[in-house]
Amino acid sequence: MKIAVVGSGYVGLVAGACLAENGNEVVCVDKDPAKIRLLQRGKIPIYEPGLEELVRRNRSEKRLTFTTALERGVRNAQIIFIAVGTPTGEDGSADLQHVLAVARDTARAMNVYKVIVNKSTVPVGTAAKVRDVVRRETTHPFSVVSNPEFLKQGAAIEDFMKPDRVVIGAEDPRGAELMKELYAPFTRTGAPIMLMDCASAELCKYAANAMLATRISFMNEVANVCESVGADVDQVRRAVAADRRIGPSFLFPGIGYGGSCFPKDVKAMLRFAAEKSYKFAILDAVEAVNDRQKLRLLTKLQTQFGSLKGKQIALWGLAFKPRTDDMREAPSVPLIQGLLAGGASVHAYDPEAMKVARSLFGSKISYADNSYTALTGADALVIVTEWNEFREPDFARMRKLLRNPIIFDGRNLYNPEQIRAHGFTYISIGRP
Ligand SMILES: NC(=O)c1ccc[n+]([C@@H]2O[C@H](COP(=O)([O-])OP(=O)(O)OC[C@H]3O[C@@H](n4cnc5c(N)ncnc54)[C@H](O)[C@@H]3O)[C@@H](O)[C@H]2O)c1
Repeated sequence: MKIAVVGSGYVGLVAGACLAENGNEVVCVDKDPAKIRLLQRGKIPIYEPGLEELVRRNRSEKRLTFTTALERGVRNAQIIFIAVGTPTGEDGSADLQHVLAVARDTARAMNVYKVIVNKSTVPVGTAAKVRDVVRRETTHPFSVVSNPEFLKQGAAIEDFMKPDRVVIGAEDPRGAELMKELYAPFTRTGAPIMLMDCASAELCKYAANAMLATRISFMNEVANVCESVGADVDQVRRAVAADRRIGPSFLFPGIGYGGSCFPKDVKAMLRFAAEKSYKFAILDAVEAVNDRQKLRLLTKLQTQFGSLKGKQIALWGLAFKPRTDDMREAPSVPLIQGLLAGGASVHAYDPEAMKVARSLFGSKISYADNSYTALTGADALVIVTEWNEFREPDFARMRKLLRNPIIFDGRNLYNPEQIRAHGFTYISIGRP
C-alpha cells in the first residue's frame, strides 16, 4: 500500500520504517527541515536500537522516502498516519494543535478517498474533531481511524513488528478493512486486531499507560514502606509477582517514571476526566508519588552528607530509561537541578544521552568520556538509569577512583551484601 506518515519522531519514524519493511511504499513527512535533511542522508536523529539499519535498508530499496512536502506525500498515499506530538498544554490537557494542523493540511491536499489515521496519543473525542476539520476543508470522501501506538522506546521495532495487539477504532467499514489489511502481516503470530469505536480506541492508550504508571508508583510506595519497617522490597516484589493475578511486569521500584508518555498521559487523563466532572483519585496519587520519588535519592544524599555544598557527585545514567537517549521528564533532571541548587558539582555519564544532556544543562555540569572517568575524585556515585554496562562494573577500579566509596543506587542494580563486601557504603531503594 502507499502510505504517508506525518511526524517523523520516535513513533512516526519507527512506524514508517516498519511499514516499509513489510513491503509498503512509505513517505515520512516532517515539518522540521533539519530532521528531514538528516534522514535523507541516511542518518537517524534519535537513538533507537535497530532503527538505523531498518531505515537504511528500506531507503536503499526505495520503499522509504522523506520529505517536508506534506501535500505531495498525501496525494500519493491511500493511508495517512498522523504521528505528531501531543505535548502537555498549559492546563495539563493534551495539546492537539499539531494533530489538527496536520488534519487540516491533509484535507486540503486530498484528491481522492483517503484513510486518515490518528496514531498520536489523543483524548477521547479527537477523532470526531479531526473528522470535523477534514470535512470543512474537502469534499473528497475519507475515513478517520484511531490507531493508538503501544511501542516502548528502546524496543520500538520489536514492539511494532510483533505487537501484543493492534487497536483500530473506526466508524465505517471501508477504513476498518484497509487497516486490517495493512496490519495483517504484523499479526501473523496470532496477536489480535481489535476493532472498536474511536472513543474506546482513544481511551485504550491512556488506560494502559495509566495502569503501568500506577504499578510503578504503587511499588515505589511499597519500597518506601519497606525502608520504614526494615523489610526488603526485593523479597516482597518476588512474592507479590509470583501471584498469577498480578504477574511480574512493572513491579521494580526505582526513582520514578519519566519519558515522553507516562507523565503527559497521566496528566491528560486526569484532565479529561475532570472536564467530565470525574476526579480520578488514584491517578492524582500516582502523579504525586512519582514527583516525590524522583527526589528520593536527593533526600538520601542530603541525609548522608548533611550539606551538599562542595560535594562532587558522579552520575551514571541520564536518559529516562536504558536503550534511549530521551531525557524528557527523566528523573535525572530534577535530581541534577537539586544537586546544583545544593551547591554540589555533577560529573555525568550516559552511553547515549550526553548530547541531549548538553542541550539541557550546557556547562552547568561536566560530562565524562566513560563510566569510570565520571568517578574520579567524586564524593559519591549516584546511579540513575539501569544501562546494562553499569550492571557488572569493575568494583575494585571504582573504589580506587572514588574519593568516598559510597553508591546511591536508584535502580537496585547490585546485591547489597556483595557490594558491601567490596567495601562500599551502599544505599538503594527499599532494601536494608
Ligand atoms: N515516544 C513514544 O514512546 C510513544 C509511544 C506511543 C505513543 N506515542 C505518542 O505518539 C505521538 C508522537 O510521539 P513522538 O515521541 O514520536 O513525538 P516526537 O516529538 O518524537 O515527534 C513528533 C514529530 O512531529 C513533527 N511535527 C509536529 N508538527 C508537525 C506538522 N504540522 N507537520 C509535520 N510534522 C510535524 C515534529 O517535528 C516531530 O519530528 C505522541 O502523541 C505520543 O504521545 C509516543
